[in-house]
Order: sequence, then structure tokens, then C-alpha cells
Amino acid sequence: MQEMKYIIDRINSLKAEHNAVILAHNYQRPEVQDIADFTGDSLGLSQQVVDSDADVIVFCGVDFMAESAAILSPEKTVLLPERDAGCPMAEMVDVISLDDEKKKHPNAAVVCYVNSSAEIKAQSDICCTSANAVDVVNSLEEDEIIFVPDKNLGTYVSDFTDKKIITWEGFCPTHHQMHAQDVLKAKEEHPNALFLAHPECRTEVLDLADEVLSTTGILSYAKNSDAKEFIIGTENGLLHRLRKENPDKKFYYVSEFTVCTNMKITTLDSVLNSLEKMEYVITVPEETRLKAKKALDRMLAVKRTM
Ligand code: 13P
Ligand code: SF4
Repeated sequence: MQEMKYIIDRINSLKAEHNAVILAHNYQRPEVQDIADFTGDSLGLSQQVVDSDADVIVFCGVDFMAESAAILSPEKTVLLPERDAGCPMAEMVDVISLDDEKKKHPNAAVVCYVNSSAEIKAQSDICCTSANAVDVVNSLEEDEIIFVPDKNLGTYVSDFTDKKIITWEGFCPTHHQMHAQDVLKAKEEHPNALFLAHPECRTEVLDLADEVLSTTGILSYAKNSDAKEFIIGTENGLLHRLRKENPDKKFYYVSEFTVCTNMKITTLDSVLNSLEKMEYVITVPEETRLKAKKALDRMLAVKRTM
């Protein structure tokens, strides 16, 4: 306990010394979320990067998020506390295969989920997050969309647009391991609970959902709803904020195994180490950065609706 207090005090004093801000994704460990200046979903965190006047951003999340911060605000020093915090889904699309797909569909626009590398963003027309994917797709003139890399999010979007969505064979291993039978079991155990799911889940899981929302969308829905019990179909880290912000409501996960190990690598020790040694600095080569920034800026111009 004493040691934890020491670490938190030290983080706060280094933050002040470096004019740093700590951003944490909603899936981070509870103690990391609690020391962050802002905790949010991928879209909210990108907006924070643009709005912040800090000199240093400590990004508690996975590498594509820190990379997006470096693309949007190259004048800031962006630190990823754990160098190995990657996203397996982001690695499921590569530049050569995407280029081949673009050649097969010359009239299609490329929409890439932010869970992708800077190189893929640079090759795309526009980015999206789980919070704005439908709005982003419907904001485009093209009738055909190559949607990378998440097939589940792409399939979900196709239900809300007249456009032809060409999905990619990528998926989030954490969300994809949830099946309809797991949800049905949770519903049986908690018959009065609403089921809120993230669009990275399989279609069979989304078909059972009362609402399909981004992580921040789930937080605001739960807060504003009259319902008192919820089954949460996303990475279990979200339950920390849900319970903290709604002490009178009950939250259940679908499975105790819905955990993204990459999101959990970052600890308070890694945040302290990051600020002490100013590591690991994330940068993107300028040519790639400028192209990727166009796709991110275009996304940020689409109004947030959920
Ligand atoms: P959000 O879009 O809700 O941030 O969650 C997506 C995710 O899996 C981040 O890795
Ligand atoms: Fe990637 Fe899934 Fe982890 Fe998000 S939860 S970082 S999509 S593996």
C-alpha cells in the first residue's frame, strides 16, 4: 500500500515536471485507469490527443493508439509504457494484401478501423472507430467499401448501410472467443439484465444484444438507462468504470476469460518507468504520417453520435 502511494506520488510529480498527460483506454487495469487524466474509447482518446496542450502523452493502451497520437500530434512526445503492447487484430492486415484488394475493387473506398498500423492508415481513405463506423461509412460517396481489418465490425456496419461492404478476414481474438452459448448462459443466470455488446463480437453474439456500442457508448448507456442489471459483452476491464460510476447497478461479464492480455501488460510500474526514462517514444516516418493523418483527420471531422 505504502509502495503504491509512493509510485502514484512519483508519477504525479514527474507528470508535472514534464507537462505530461496520462491517457488510458477503458480496458486498462483499474489502478492505471485511476491515475489517468482521461480514460476513454479509441475515438475519445484520439480527440483528447488533438485537444491537449501537454508536451508529453503517456499512452496506456496498445501500440496503434500511441501511433495514432504520434500521427495526430507530432509536436508532442508520445510514450507507450510497454513496448510489447500490440494488437493482434491490427497485424491481420498488411500493405501488400490491401493493395491487391484495392486493385480488385478500383472504385471502392478503403475504410480502416483505427486498430491498424500507420502504414495501413496511410493506404486508406478514412479511419473509423467502433463508435463512428456506421457514420463514417455512410459519410462516403463511394458505393463500395473495403473495410479492414475487423470482419465482425464490417459485418455489423453492413446492416446499417446500402453500400456494399467488402470485409477482411481479421478479428479481435478477445471478442471473437465469446459465443452465443456463453451469452445465453449469462442471460439464464441474470434474467433481468440487459445485454450490451461491443461490435467486435461475432454476429451470433450481436444478434443477442439489446444494444451494440463502443466502450464509451456502453458506459453512457448504462449510466442513463433505468435498468439496474447489465451483462457486458466486451473486454472485462470496462467493468471497473461501470461499477465505479454506477454503484447502485449490477454488471456481469459474459466470461471471466474475456481479457486482452496486451491491454493488461501496462502497470503502474510501467507508467512510472516510462516517465522516468522517457520511453518508449513512438514516432511515425513523415511520409507515412502525413498520409495516415489525412485518414484520421477525415474521421475526426465526422460528428460523434454514440
Ligand atoms: P473502443 O473502440 O470502444 O475503444 O474499443 C475497441 C478496442 O478493442 C480497442 O482495442
Ligand atoms: Fe486488439 Fe482486441 Fe485487444 Fe482491442 S481488445 S487491443 S482489438 S486484441
